[in-house]
Amino acid sequence: MTVKVLGISTSPRVNGNSDLLLREALAGAESTGAKTEYIRLSDYNIAPCIECNACYKTGTCRVKDDYQRLLQKILDTDRLIFATPIFFMNVCAQAKTFIDRCQCLWAHKYILKKQLITPERDRRAMVIAVGGSKSKKQFESIQLTMKYYFDVLEINYTANLFVNQIDAIGDIQKHPEALKEAFRLGKELITSEAPPPEKPVNIELT
Ligand SMILES: Cc1cc2nc3c(=O)[nH]c(=O)nc-3n(C[C@H](O)[C@H](O)[C@H](O)COP(=O)(O)O)c2cc1C
Repeated sequence: MTVKVLGISTSPRVNGNSDLLLREALAGAESTGAKTEYIRLSDYNIAPCIECNACYKTGTCRVKDDYQRLLQKILDTDRLIFATPIFFMNVCAQAKTFIDRCQCLWAHKYILKKQLITPERDRRAMVIAVGGSKSKKQFESIQLTMKYYFDVLEINYTANLFVNQIDAIGDIQKHPEALKEAFRLGKELITSEAPPPEKPVNIELT
């Protein structure tokens, strides 16, 4: 069966560094025959969580906007590639806004004790994050956020590609190793021969 891959580019910059790496990862996935879809989060109108907690009773979000449409794509996909620039040591605000709206999935799982995805489905996700600074501490905060996010999405967290000291738009083009690793990880993400790793594989490049 053809594996479906969804790539979400959350950077506000068109052709930003994380965006270019995401496209390489999708090309890697496509090279295996997977069916890929690329989307830009900025094309979706998604408001922040208003903490009404209505989802504690329903498991769904009461705020109606493009969130529901994007969530459906995530639930339908077999593989997810989530790309973000690093803003103040974590994912960018655009990405975080969408992640926070998934609080209804947390309620669905931990308050209502319901399952989102049938356990037979082998779903896997990877993260691409690019920062301008030298700090590697920021990789830890991103991993923590994404670990809890993928937990509520009921998707296995299999890999991270973290690149730092890349700041100006498009500078990642001068980093062939990062582009190559993105392609490789995108390709690897498709496999289902081995079970998903217990912990995500980390590739950190400078
Ligand atoms: C609001 C803002 C906050 C940032 N914070 C960080 C940061 O905490 N750490 C870091 O390494 N880079 C930081 N940067 C730099 C970006 O991560 C860097 O330019 C990156 O290449 C942008 O990726 P993109 O082209 O995919 O958007 C920040 C940039 C902006 C605009």
